Amino acid sequence: MSTFRVGVIGAGSIAQSHLTAYQNNPDVELIAVADMNLERARAVADQYGAPRAYADPHELLADPEIDGVSICTWNNSHAAWAIAAIEAGKHVLVEKPIARTLAEAEQLQRIVEQHDTVVQVGFVRRHSPNCQVLKSFIDADELGEIYYAKASCLRRAGNPGGWFADKEISGGGPLLDIGIHVLDLCWYLMGSPKVVSVSGNTYDKLGSRGNITTMPRYKAADYDPDRNSVEDLANAVIRFENGASLLLDCSYSLHATKDSIDVSVYGEKGGAELEPSLRIATEMHDSVVNIEPQIGSGTFEFGTGFANEIQNFVDASLGKAESVAPAWHGVEIVRILEAIYESAASGREVSLV
Ligand SMILES: NC(=O)c1ccc[n+]([C@@H]2O[C@H](COP(=O)([O-])OP(=O)(O)OC[C@H]3O[C@@H](n4cnc5c(N)ncnc54)[C@H](O)[C@@H]3O)[C@@H](O)[C@H]2O)c1
Repeated sequence: MSTFRVGVIGAGSIAQSHLTAYQNNPDVELIAVADMNLERARAVADQYGAPRAYADPHELLADPEIDGVSICTWNNSHAAWAIAAIEAGKHVLVEKPIARTLAEAEQLQRIVEQHDTVVQVGFVRRHSPNCQVLKSFIDADELGEIYYAKASCLRRAGNPGGWFADKEISGGGPLLDIGIHVLDLCWYLMGSPKVVSVSGNTYDKLGSRGNITTMPRYKAADYDPDRNSVEDLANAVIRFENGASLLLDCSYSLHATKDSIDVSVYGEKGGAELEPSLRIATEMHDSVVNIEPQIGSGTFEFGTGFANEIQNFVDASLGKAESVAPAWHGVEIVRILEAIYESAASGREVSLV
């Protein structure tokens, strides 16, 4: 098999990034797009040159010409479509979060373990050149043992509305949507340690801030600012088996003076900040020193991240590489996120051992 033939399920906002990366990948042939909004599926299929469009993803999965799928639907159907795709013999790239709940994620993981197909979770930021370069420094032990990390993604007025803000469909707010990316980056760079306890808080003081129209915001394809049952802000302290700890905070709505992202890891020999561009701190000859690897524009670019993610998925499916983000990583991250909600609801630390 030299060409990887692909279908995309869910044709909304983020599907465009998957489709662009597939379209630009010489190893890929785009076959079909499915969306319960058939008009949208057709328009997107036409735009990217996929010959077939379906309203029912089961029809796409029954297509024997398709080798692998991207799942870009709402969170409430990620696990179900991933299971259906695996059982149809397809390789799967499923958007984050891998599932809306831990129960769904664990059900999916059991199916993953019974099959040989590649199941990759859409942790696109792992595939950014910044992260890849830092990972190579960490793998070469330049930072020593990492014992502390900070993961922060704060939006002032960035609730994407629609289903994102409907807890029944999304499973949660900024924690499951954007906090997940920065948490995952730190956890991945720390070497995926086992979590032992979580203490978290959530707040819903400001609402969706749909009244703020003077700032750009990422929006669900069916944007509706009036729908909102998710938290504005979440924070947590996460402890790991190896003694390391991680501080996390993330928001859709917050009276901060600016939107910000912070992904920092600190080890015995050096520390590093990924955002806005990679900087490594260490000590040399009795001086503190900053090292700034020169990497393209230096900042995270969606296009490059998705191109690399899709290439990794295609290579893994063709047996040429290991997937950088296997399904079980997605499950462990959902385990942490669900424990944060549980801790926030109970007002107590949650033990995971
Ligand atoms: N990796 C990233 O950086 C990133 C960024 C944004 C969104 N996402 C993830 O991508 C997923 C989609 O987000 P989006 O912003 O594209 O949402 P969206 O609302 O813009 O698009 C979702 C599309 O899926 C369709 N859909 C939903 N459920 C379906 C089902 N069961 N069957 C068929 N079609 C269905 C909808 O009709 C819609 O067209 C979410 O899980 C989100 O967390 C990831």
